[in-house]
Parts: sequence; C-alpha cells; structure tokens
Amino acid sequence: MPVITTIEDLRQIYQRRAPRMFYDYCESGSWTEQTFRQNTSDFAKIHLRQRVAVDMSNRTTETEMIGQKVAMPVALAPVGLTGMQHADGEILAAKAAEKFGVPFTLSTMSICSIEDVAAHTTKPFWFQLYVMKDEDFVRRILQRAKDAGCSALVLTLDLQLLGQRHKDLKNGLSAPPKLTIPTMINLATKVQWGLGMLGTKRRFFGNIVGHATGVGDPASLGAWTAEQFDLQLTWAKIEKLRDMWGGKLILKGINDAEDAIMAQKIGAEAIVVSNHGGRQLDGAHSSIRMLPSILDAVGDTTEVHLDSGIRSGQDVLKAVAMGAKSTFIGRSFVYGLGAMGEAGVTKALEIIHAELDKTMALCGERDVKALGRHNLIVPQGFEDPTAVI
Ligand code: GLV
Repeated sequence: MPVITTIEDLRQIYQRRAPRMFYDYCESGSWTEQTFRQNTSDFAKIHLRQRVAVDMSNRTTETEMIGQKVAMPVALAPVGLTGMQHADGEILAAKAAEKFGVPFTLSTMSICSIEDVAAHTTKPFWFQLYVMKDEDFVRRILQRAKDAGCSALVLTLDLQLLGQRHKDLKNGLSAPPKLTIPTMINLATKVQWGLGMLGTKRRFFGNIVGHATGVGDPASLGAWTAEQFDLQLTWAKIEKLRDMWGGKLILKGINDAEDAIMAQKIGAEAIVVSNHGGRQLDGAHSSIRMLPSILDAVGDTTEVHLDSGIRSGQDVLKAVAMGAKSTFIGRSFVYGLGAMGEAGVTKALEIIHAELDKTMALCGERDVKALGRHNLIVPQGFEDPTAVI
C-alpha cells in the first residue's frame, strides 16, 4: 500500500480500482469542462497570508452548519451513483462521515436507499431532492426522508436537465453497467470492485426502483432525468416544497446574487453556492469567484455554504476565509471511497482536516471561526465577476 498523503493520491488509486464508466462519470465536467477546470484553478489564484510569532496551540476546526455542530466546516455533498463507485458506497460514506462528525447528504440518485442508509447509521443525515414532475413521487420521497429521520432537505436547483458529459454517452453509463464488450473488457480488470458488487444486492437506483412508475430505462440516469425532472420548476414550487417538507431547508446550486436573494426570500436556512462541480452550465464562473458577490447580496442573515472545486484543507480554509460558513466536498470523498471504501472516505476527511488545521496555524489562527479576509491575499478584480483576471 503506497503512503497516501493527498486527495490526489486517493484519486489515482480510485482510477485504478473503479470501472472506467463510473470514474469518468465522477471526473467529468459538462461540454468543454471550462467551469470544471476553473473551479480548481480559481482557488489557486487566492494566496494565504503567512503570519509568525503567534500562539498556535489549542486549535479548533469545530463550527456549526444550520445549527448542527460539525468537526470541521465540511459536509459530504450529494453524489449520484455513489454505490457504483464501491459496493454499498452510500452506507460506507455515511458511516465514515458520522464517525468523523460531519454531515452526510444522500442523493435522490443514490444506489443505497434512504431506508437502507438510515438502518446502517445512528445519527440523522441530510437528504437531497431533485424536483420531479411526479408530485406524488415527490410527496412520498419527502415522507420517506422524514420517516428516516433526515434532519435537513437539500434541494438541488441547478439540474432540471442534465448538462452533457461526453464520456457518459460514449461509455453508455448505466447502473448496473450494461455488459457491452468494451465494458466487459474493462470490468475484467476491476476484480476488487467486482467482488464487492457480487456481494451486495444494492446495484440499482434504490430510491427510485420500486417506488416510481413509468420509467423507460430505470438503469439510466440520462433517461430518468429527461423523463422525470420538472423543467417548469419555479420559486413558487420551491415554496410549496418548503412547506411540504416543514423542516430545515438548504437550497443548492445558487451561483448568482439575484438567485441568492430569491433563495433568501424563501426562508432557506442555508444556500450552497455551487455550479454542480462544473457538471451543468459550462461557461459559468467558479463558485469561489461568485461567492463574494453572493455574500454581498445576502448579508449575514442566511448561511452561505460553498461547493465545487474543493480538493484540500487549504481550499476549505480559503472558502471560509472568503466568508462561506462551510463547504461541501463531492469528488474528494468519492476518490477515497472508490480507492478504499469506508477507510478511504475517512482518509479523505483526515487529509482535509490536517491540511485545514495546520494551514490555519501557519496563518496565525487557532479557531476556524476566526478566519476572515485578513488571512487572504486576493487578486484585484477577483470579487468582481465582470473583471478579467
Ligand atoms: C448528478 O448529480 C450529476 O451531476 O450527474
């Protein structure tokens, strides 16, 4: 076993172990992947202020997300098909998150069902919903999430249709994989993955199959999305969903100040500044670049979280110092899961935590809640989405 010190190390192991179609699903952005790339390259444009001769003992990365205590300002983002990256993936990731003390968010498009994840965890997790045309299905899935004790609803707003990821079409992405000759040749090299899959019954979209009717191809994310997702989603419908849920609401996929103000009017506990990891609107700005204008628009009455592009504790620190209350990681934990199952998710969280903690100290801070713009050197124009930098 190589010595694993970075999220990139986990990605490389994951790439060797997971079938190509699922690795590509995770590692793609839409169309030209401009936004996917800028999500990470924009983080690299922000520098940290090095401070010395300050007491760096007794540090803490603890904070709160929507009133919930968290070990660090990081939650696991909802990621579709996680149970195809590793057998029972959602259950394993949820367990790792619970032990670490950070929230886990289960995707509507998960392989393990809401009930299954609840049966294997002891603390409430968060549930992510895609708004579908079938109101009855939406009502029932919200009730299932309530019955399972989910403590927040994360409503995704930036995926009513799927941004095209070329590789998914070329690979014939499906869950479980359809056994074409190229897929069988690739699967033959993924022995550990295959043994895991043979040992589990969880190989289908667990929240959907058996719960929804009239789905043309229940194995295809693309077909399901095109048929079922509500293209007529409006703020009025979001308000209705808020009332139907009746609990804590997080609106995810906001990447514009005007939308952030609308989300604030809905009364969401938090918004997640996100461009869906560069998987939807190719050509949108990175979320870290849009964060300052969104913070200016909403002030401090709504909690602002950020995802898209976080691959290190330094990135978490930059987002928080820029003003986000917390962050979500998607790919960073999937790399760990695909590399080593639950232990890999724990490893990803440990890496990010150690990077955040030590970097905070080297910035002269002992408490993650004390981080602020004074810790950063931000290039001129970065906060202005119209500036060329
Ligand atoms: C779903 O969330 C996706 O990005 O494929």
